[in-house]
Amino acid sequence: MNAPWKTGGMGNREPFSAFICDESSLDVLRPVVIEMGWQPEKCNKGGLRNAVQSLSIAASPAILMVDLSESGDPLNDINALAEVCEPGTVVVAIGQVNDVRLYRDLIASGIHDYLLKPLSASQLRDALTQAQSVFTAPRANDGDGEKQHVSTAIVGTRGGVGASTVATSLAWLFSTEHERSTALLDLDVHFGTGALALDLEPGRGLTDAIENPSRIDGLFIERAMIRANDRLAIMSAEAPINSPLMTDGTAFVQLEEEFRQAFDITVVDLPRNMLINFPHLLAEVNVVTVVTELTLAAARDTIRILSWLKTNAPAAQPLVVANKVQAGAAEISKADFEASIERKINFAIPYDQKAGINAAKLGQTFAEANRSSKATQAMQDIAKVIVGAAEEDGASVEEAGGSGSLLGKFDLKNLLGSKKEKAGSHEVVEPAE
Ligand SMILES: Nc1ncnc2c1ncn2[C@@H]1O[C@H](COP(=O)(O)OP(=O)(O)OP(=O)(O)O)[C@@H](O)[C@H]1O
Ligand SMILES: [Mg+2]
Repeated sequence: MNAPWKTGGMGNREPFSAFICDESSLDVLRPVVIEMGWQPEKCNKGGLRNAVQSLSIAASPAILMVDLSESGDPLNDINALAEVCEPGTVVVAIGQVNDVRLYRDLIASGIHDYLLKPLSASQLRDALTQAQSVFTAPRANDGDGEKQHVSTAIVGTRGGVGASTVATSLAWLFSTEHERSTALLDLDVHFGTGALALDLEPGRGLTDAIENPSRIDGLFIERAMIRANDRLAIMSAEAPINSPLMTDGTAFVQLEEEFRQAFDITVVDLPRNMLINFPHLLAEVNVVTVVTELTLAAARDTIRILSWLKTNAPAAQPLVVANKVQAGAAEISKADFEASIERKINFAIPYDQKAGINAAKLGQTFAEANRSSKATQAMQDIAKVIVGAAEEDGASVEEAGGSGSLLGKFDLKNLLGSKKEKAGSHEVVEPAE
């Protein structure tokens, strides 16, 4: 596999095992395996079927060699292997069919290499060294010096404010305009739309990670993430809505840790309830992008979330983004909102209904589908600030964006009260206690 990101190493897996049909091939293989520093006992007699059987009950090795000689339908059987093989395993196939088409199909199905029998020691040595190099390969961007990893969590202050729209767009912008390898982690495990926005199937990656956090390593993420483009990969789930989320959050923290090693930027789409359940998720996050709308309820929750962040994630720099902003149509004006949250809104993304529809129709992120829209321009500005967050000091993020003015302390309770008194008001708003 030619992953765009660096794998974190082989983790705790066995480095190698092989399933080979004939003794003479095994005789050539064993000495090479010893040379590589691996155990010759890992060279098993048997072909693809034995490999499938064995891997369905045991952990997968980092490098797996399988003999396809006795397989009537190698491509189909390889798919069966893929089902039991853990993500990240590098598979080297061997066989006796000299057919370029088969070779191409095997490579396309994720096989690392295909070796033709009869095997020679030098051919095996080359192939295994090459397979090993997958785990030690330098990052794609090592040439331009070490860039510091940036991690941002996108939190919506209310449902539907556009947090996921912003998250997917930012991830896309990082991967394209900023040419950073980017991981998008959609922690809306049941109802996430990250994959949908990128027109991808969510896969089982995140579900597997939650069920088996101990398996999370560089190899795992390499296989379990769904690639959206050369530099953007997503991990998400569409977990069945008849089962609750059974996790203590270890998997998420572990994923964040692996992403730090393997990517330049991590974008976490973090539903508000996850913030409450798993506060440690924000421990290492550089920038928390708080997406809000200009409503009373959102003002209350922006205040609460900013204050929560101050206590629980003091290292994370909050960036306040107002989304779906419509001139003259806000429940609260921008200035009043800023006064009530006692800080300025860093960026305002205009409401653009056509652009939203366009993105959905094209199966692209909002930013990709509407490159010249004002809303995308605002997202580009946000992306720039976040990319720069690792290099600059904390104040720069808080001060980022337009020069909004503070009107001094603004009493939210008063506003809520006056709103309730307003004759003909069509909304009933519960004041914050
Ligand atoms: N600036 C915008 N202009 C117009 N429509 C927008 C804008 N931002 C987001 N939307 C639309 O708002 C809807 C909700 O967006 P999104 O799913 O991103 O919200 P969310 O905050 O992640 O919601 P949830 O609480 O369900 O996670 C989508 O249909 C999206 O296209
Ligand atoms: Mg969402």
